[in-house]
Amino acid sequence: MRKDRMPAVVVRETGGRGEWNRLELDEVPMPSPQSGEVLVQVEACSVNRADLLQRRGLYPPPPGASTIMGLDFAGVVVSPASQGGKWRADDRVFGIVAGGGYGRYVAIPADHLVPIPEKLSFLEAAAAAEVFFTAFHNLFREGGLKEGETVLIHGGGSGVGTAAIQLVRSAGATPIITAGSEEKIAPCIELGAAYGINYRTEDFAQRVMDLTGGAGVDLVLDSIGASYLARHIEILKTCGRLVIIGLMGGHTAEIALAPLLTKRLRIIGSVLRTQSHAEKTALAADFRQRVLPLLASGKVRPVIHRVFPIQAVEKAHNMLKEGGHFGKVVLTWGEP
Ligand SMILES: NC(=O)c1ccc[n+]([C@@H]2O[C@H](COP(=O)([O-])OP(=O)(O)OC[C@H]3O[C@@H](n4cnc5c(N)ncnc54)[C@H](OP(=O)(O)O)[C@@H]3O)[C@@H](O)[C@H]2O)c1
Repeated sequence: MRKDRMPAVVVRETGGRGEWNRLELDEVPMPSPQSGEVLVQVEACSVNRADLLQRRGLYPPPPGASTIMGLDFAGVVVSPASQGGKWRADDRVFGIVAGGGYGRYVAIPADHLVPIPEKLSFLEAAAAAEVFFTAFHNLFREGGLKEGETVLIHGGGSGVGTAAIQLVRSAGATPIITAGSEEKIAPCIELGAAYGINYRTEDFAQRVMDLTGGAGVDLVLDSIGASYLARHIEILKTCGRLVIIGLMGGHTAEIALAPLLTKRLRIIGSVLRTQSHAEKTALAADFRQRVLPLLASGKVRPVIHRVFPIQAVEKAHNMLKEGGHFGKVVLTWGEP
């Protein structure tokens, strides 16, 4: 392969918008780091729900971002030249990107990188990146979670859910989770969830009110959106916060607004991918200060469901599509 080319997973359009286009490994141009950026050789990345949308043409990268899929990576610094000496060649690093994680190399601003703690492998760091950034940012920086509060987390067995349960516990708060089966609730309780609600067989809102003695919750980490919105307004306490990070249950809803005023609620929409360079710099700095020590000490840990070689990316996507996974599905350029 020429030096200015690299292998990457690319999307071959096989149908129109919404079709499950084919994925394959191909050669693409190598990213060229701009001033302040580092070139990283990727050893592993993870599969995120957003990748399934991007593949179908439903979640294009923001302007200026790589068009290659992949929101996170773990690897080694190969070219630290243009970034003022923050990183050295061979440093083990991980992080989030707006695109490009499914390529063998990524170019990323030096300030957005996080060092991989000694105890974590590349696979574990890749499994941690997007979901711990997402859970941390939305629980604490957007949701203002405080010790002693109670949080409802939807999809406790998701990548984001498994990270959120542990971060909520580590902050001295109480996580209640939903999941679609008893098989997923049990490991969520082991991770630290106080209660698990099967959203397929129970009305989650009624159960939350029962479990909290009618008090409700302080914060909801919501990946569902429209179909749960009215019930979220019902179960939030006075000054409660609803942080919407996904719309798996629809984009459009009509709700009664009066409780928003009387309970002084906040509804916050949040996406990491479109944050500016400066916002991601601040987020990464906060993450290095507040989450990295938890990962380094083992107080919180990434949950890996399965590792696939990058060549088996189709199988990895199918696993997320079918939904039987608990935690993260990871792709590796090395041995799984
Ligand atoms: N805004 C951001 O920056 C950002 C960043 C990362 C992720 N996200 C969002 O966070 C969510 C999780 O992402 P992920 O990659 O961790 O996903 P994932 O591992 O594929 O998990 C999806 C989860 O959704 C749960 N679920 C589906 N329908 C549900 C319902 N009606 N009620 C409760 N739970 C339901 C599933 O539960 P069962 O399998 O138990 O049925 C599963 O745990 C996605 O919506 C994703 O788009 C947002």
